[in-house]
Formats: sequence, C-alpha cells, structure tokens
Amino acid sequence: MLEKIKQTADFLRGQVEEMPKIAIILGTGLGSLVDLIENKKFIPYSEIPNFPVSTVQGHSGNLIFGTMGGRPVIAMQGRFHYYEGYDMKTVTFPVRVFKALGVETLFVSNAAGGMNKEFLVGDVMVITDHINLFPENPLRGKNYEELGPRFPAMTEPYSHELIKLADSIAAEKGLRLMHGVYVGTTGPTFETPAEYEYFRVIGGDAVGMSTVPEVIVARHADMRVFGISVITDLGGKDITEVPSHEEVQKAAIKAQPTVEAIVKAMVERC
Ligand code: HPA
Repeated sequence: MLEKIKQTADFLRGQVEEMPKIAIILGTGLGSLVDLIENKKFIPYSEIPNFPVSTVQGHSGNLIFGTMGGRPVIAMQGRFHYYEGYDMKTVTFPVRVFKALGVETLFVSNAAGGMNKEFLVGDVMVITDHINLFPENPLRGKNYEELGPRFPAMTEPYSHELIKLADSIAAEKGLRLMHGVYVGTTGPTFETPAEYEYFRVIGGDAVGMSTVPEVIVARHADMRVFGISVITDLGGKDITEVPSHEEVQKAAIKAQPTVEAIVKAMVERC
C-alpha cells in the first residue's frame, strides 16, 4: 500500500506546480461546486496510476486541480462507494494520496436522508459527528505507523473550529444551516421506515452511504475535516415519499447555492 500511495502521489506531483493544502470530495449532486474552481486541470481517474474508476450515474470520475478564492485546491469529482463493491482500502485510497501530497484539510460533501424532525428537503447540514455502521473499518488490518496510529482517537472527527467558521459564515450571509450527526451505512438500499426510526433513536440526524470511511482515514492521518450533508429526502415511520436517485440529485441541486456559498467562503478563510 505504501508503495502505491507513493507512486500515485509522485504522478500527481508532476501534474501541477503548487500542491494544495485543501482537498474537497464532491458528493452526489454536488458536482456544481466544480464551477467554483478556477484554472482547472482535469485528470480522469482512468489516467491516474492505482486509481479505481467510478461507476455510478451522476458521478463523473475526475481529479481536479485548480484554485478557489485564489487558494490551490484538489477536488474529487466522483468518489468510490463501498456499495459499488470496492473494498475499504480502495474507497479511502484517494485520502491517503491527498495526505502524501501535503493536504491538511479535507472537505467532504454528500447527499443524505434526514431523520431529524426539524429538517426539510434541501436543507444543508454541517456534520458535527458520525456513527459508523459500515460492516468494516478502513483501518482494519496491518497498521502502518507512517500513516497514523494503531488506535486513533475519534473525539473530534469534524473540526470544531471549522464548524464554528461555517456557522459564522451562515450567520453573515443569512443562510439556514443545520447541525447533525451523520450515520454511515453501506446502501445501496435506502432505509426502511423502521431503519430511519432506528437511526434517529440511536442519535443520528441524517443517513447516507459514504463519507465515514474517508473521514476515518483522514483523521487517522491527522487531517482536519469539515463535512456537509445535503438533506435530499426525509425518512421515518410517518413518511411515505419514496426516495430515488433522481429525487436525491434534484434536491441536491436545490441546495447548491447554500453549499457553494459556505464552501467557497470557508476555503478562502480556513
Ligand atoms: N438514505 C441513505 N442514503 C441516502 C439517502 C437516504 O435516505 N438519501 C441520500 N442518500
């Protein structure tokens, strides 16, 4: 694994002059954040050594180098989901590469189903914590001390400082910004009414099929993390709307102006 990370990082280092300290993973329907990146250089995953190729509709697979608000960033347009069949080491490989490139702060975004009764479709939720319900931890197996400790603390998975910054930006701009705990599950099924209810009872506000593995690896590597979920559907025992991938994408588009305003201001100021 160490050799692969080095190979991929060496390849990417040869592609741009200034290495970004900020990486952004663009979730389902949030691809429009790409429009905020200037001086873009697209590198298809298929051209990157050791990178898998993303298979879901609505996810194009490119690594993008560019600048946002004048600061160099690297963005993943399309991520690798566990439900696609990738193993955890593959799902989180790009995060390992970001670390090797010198990235210090990781932004993650996703679409999620809301269980919190205050949430509305199209709301944007800052992830304050998560519950890992994937059947496998990405750190299972041999630990490489060069990458991080055997037993990493997860007391502050999402940077308190960055959450505060997001709140102050939202207040300044008059944006509705929710807080909540993200429950990470494998999918690809959406939840049954009883499952949404269960996730709410155990302390979740939103549920989705990504993000937790990447955040675990980023924290293992001591990167700061900021996470944002777009609430694309609501679930629970009283809710009868049927979620679909199309609805999720549509709702994510509705939330884009808020996500864009927050992420852009944060990249400029963090
Ligand atoms: N459940 C799981 N993942 C999701 C959902 C959901 O309701 N909406 C968007 N991604």
